Amino acid sequence: KKVVLAYSGGLDTSVILKWLQDQYQCEIVTFTADLGQGEEVEPARAKAEALGVKEIYIDDLREEFVRDFVFPMFRANTIYEGEYLLGTSIARPLIAKRLIEIANETGADAISHGATGKGNDQVRFELGAYALKPGVKVIAPWREWDLMSREKLLAYAEKHNIPIERHGKKSPYSMDANLLHISYEGGVLEDTWAEHEEEMWRWSVSPENAPDTPTYLELTYRQGDIVAIDGKDMTPAEVLTYLNKVGGDNGIGRVDIVENRYVGMKARGCYETPGGTIMLKAHRAIESITLDREVMHLKDELMPKYAAMIYNGYWWSPERHMLQQMIDASQACVNGVVRLKLYKGNIMVVGRKSDDSLFDASVATFEDDAGAYDQKDAAGFIKLNALRLRIAASKGRSLL
Ligand code: ARG
Ligand code: SIN
Repeated sequence: KKVVLAYSGGLDTSVILKWLQDQYQCEIVTFTADLGQGEEVEPARAKAEALGVKEIYIDDLREEFVRDFVFPMFRANTIYEGEYLLGTSIARPLIAKRLIEIANETGADAISHGATGKGNDQVRFELGAYALKPGVKVIAPWREWDLMSREKLLAYAEKHNIPIERHGKKSPYSMDANLLHISYEGGVLEDTWAEHEEEMWRWSVSPENAPDTPTYLELTYRQGDIVAIDGKDMTPAEVLTYLNKVGGDNGIGRVDIVENRYVGMKARGCYETPGGTIMLKAHRAIESITLDREVMHLKDELMPKYAAMIYNGYWWSPERHMLQQMIDASQACVNGVVRLKLYKGNIMVVGRKSDDSLFDASVATFEDDAGAYDQKDAAGFIKLNALRLRIAASKGRSLL
């Protein structure tokens, strides 16, 4: 019996590792991913070795994460409940995929993770795992053990000589980070009326401390994805890394929200998504000149459904796959350049241009259009659209 564990190297997953060895008498394979969380992943190797693990996977997944998950999601202008850019939600399907690939490579029949039984992450990991390997067994220690409190967890770690380095004081928040965002939950945030502390934020300056001069950016799009910034070609992970830096420096991308978890409860969360916030705004700007109106509106109608699929853990599902093909097809002409001005937490679009632009100045102009648009046509257009309104009114249907 063999289990692949999603292992961060931190206290919780180290305790899980030991607990799995004890409870299940099984061999453990650890999997640690660099998703751009900004923490070294290599130290996880020595920690796993110290716990007797023989098969250790440490992968740099930053490019795959942005190219195959973040960028496809941003093609849809995805946002959950009007506020959340899904930074954690979109990383889970990639982790699920790697867990299953590693299970297949090592002949493991089970996977395990450190998500609690109260959250979304357990659902995302497990729906993904079952979708990709129907017979897989799942072990979720947080739903099984009795180490519910911090003290019990620490006592267990001490008792079993789990190497825990404690540099500095532990954050009071439950956090998750990758190239798209960093999240904070729990602690003082459990009071929905209590303002978050300024010291909580790690990636951005506050807008009031941002520079007094604006920063301009030019983003080049090809088929809905950013391929260059200020004329310099960049890979997907380079794009997001760069935008996080300039966004964070300008106080962009902080939100403090209460969201509906799939398991039924409301939860308060604070998120820093500097690069993602810029990408959402800029993508809408390039679409504004390159997409047909009805295509754009249909995309907008379907977006909340697509966002819920990702939030609720259905990335690996036929419905998301179907929607993705439609979204991707819509992006064929989404090419061009967007010019932005960043200033104290704000993103202003100041220009957009494209060889595929549908904007026709000769039609739209307030000046003489030289016959490009016949204003007389508008009279019939309006009259026919008003026909049913006039019939109803003439038959006495009152709207007042
Ligand atoms: N509430 C967010 C979500 O469901 C963030 C979850 C953060 N996860 C974590 N393990 N700290 O996507
Ligand atoms: C957790 O419960 O493990 C984190 C929060 C979530 O998954 O929603």
